[in-house]
Amino acid sequence: MSEERYIGAIDQGTTGTRFMVFDHDGQVVANAYQKHEQVYPEPGWVEHKPQEIWENTKEVIDAALTEAGIGSEQLDAIGITNQRETTLIWDRESGKPIHNAIVWQDRRTTDRVEQLQDEGKEGWIREKTGLEPDAYFSATKAEWLLDNTDQIKLQRMRPDDVRDRAEQGELLFGTIDSWLIYKLTGEHITDVTNASRTMLFNIHEMDWDEELLEEFGVPEAILPEVRPSSDENHYGYTDADGFLGAEVPVAGALGDQQAALFGQTCFDEGDAKNTYGTGSFMLMNTGDEAVESEHGLLTTVGFQRSGEPVKYALEGSIFITGAAIEWLEDMTLIDDAAETEELARSVDSTDGVYFVPAFAGLGAPHWDQRARGTIVGMTRGTRREHVVRAVLESIAFQTRDVAEAMESDSGIDLTTLRVDGGAVKNNFLCQLQANIVGTDIARPVVDETTALGAAYAAGLAVGYWETVDELRDNWHVDSEFQPESPGDVEQRYGRWTDAVERSLDWARD
Ligand code: G3P
Repeated sequence: MSEERYIGAIDQGTTGTRFMVFDHDGQVVANAYQKHEQVYPEPGWVEHKPQEIWENTKEVIDAALTEAGIGSEQLDAIGITNQRETTLIWDRESGKPIHNAIVWQDRRTTDRVEQLQDEGKEGWIREKTGLEPDAYFSATKAEWLLDNTDQIKLQRMRPDDVRDRAEQGELLFGTIDSWLIYKLTGEHITDVTNASRTMLFNIHEMDWDEELLEEFGVPEAILPEVRPSSDENHYGYTDADGFLGAEVPVAGALGDQQAALFGQTCFDEGDAKNTYGTGSFMLMNTGDEAVESEHGLLTTVGFQRSGEPVKYALEGSIFITGAAIEWLEDMTLIDDAAETEELARSVDSTDGVYFVPAFAGLGAPHWDQRARGTIVGMTRGTRREHVVRAVLESIAFQTRDVAEAMESDSGIDLTTLRVDGGAVKNNFLCQLQANIVGTDIARPVVDETTALGAAYAAGLAVGYWETVDELRDNWHVDSEFQPESPGDVEQRYGRWTDAVERSLDWARD
């Protein structure tokens, strides 16, 4: 066994959990992945089983280390990155969750958000949190867990015990990063980026906001301590007698989209990336300034290193992109995501078909919780190739919607967009994206930038890497896609906008 030193990263995403090991050059040394169950108790509700996620985390760590022949004592640190906003509450003593985690896509608290809107509280929440009030964020999910105690089946707790026990600090609230940090180290901690997605955190004061806690009835006693994303004081250590068999510092955590920003080495103001996962999330580093959006974007925490000021970001959150490709699979229009490239290329156009994947409402820049998916423009001659191409175009059009908003808000022209995530393996999509946004698209060699970002945060904290310049040197372009002649892009974008109009407010009562 070699005596090389490495950094490990847990990437706990919406559909599965990955563990990756990176070397000093930022190259992938090991990679293991496992899917978990999606629980849909009612239409529009989405849950995950926290215990399953934890078991999978242990399994992928074990599998990756075994595959690469690396001992756990060769890990200098572990970083964590995670699906953001997904909310759970667990028992401090037993470590058992009181309910399934409520996933970021879950729409069960739509009415509560509309109540906030009717009460004119949108501006108040936006000012404090940088977020557009939506069921997407954790606050209303935590409130739901504390109030809907009849749903609580675990722990043999009496329903009315839940609030009492929360007030006493016997229960703990967290997003998935906190859950994993707790399971790995026994500490109750979150990082600044994850905290900024809860809608309970004041991004200017960088602290939990008392007025918001009161609004949502969330007792302070259940909240995790908020720490930098890359923390020289380390969040805690794995247990040498535990599953890993070594004491490894857990020293970095970022929400997955911020981790991708970090992994793409977007350290300077104006640097931007777009990650194509279940949804797509475009983030631009805005430096020390929390830029307020006037075009439907979110203001969020980008990252923070120990002893340094917080870096903010503007974010365009698109809820459904890769999930629309999965939907094609579910509808048996394709067997595998890899087929989409060939099918889309086999026709010259969508033949007038536009697909709006508003399965979970629409996020940026529309923020319509009641929008629903729609296909328009079909004729008797519409074939599956046209629908597949329309799905890929919808990914590129949605990205243009947020790219335009980002340019307007930041006053910066996007010349190059760094991309990552599963769907960027699709060259057709990358070229389409360049054509539709009218900007260069740069795909790096290591496209698992989410995990890489978490590894970088943890590695910087323990001195495995000393400066961010070392990380910049690790970034290498694999392919660059330049916009081709615009053709009918503008006309198609106009039709896309018409199609979006038709999906808005569809699920009204
Ligand atoms: O905000 C939700 C986002 O963090 C989910 O990302 O990659 O798990 O779909 P992903």
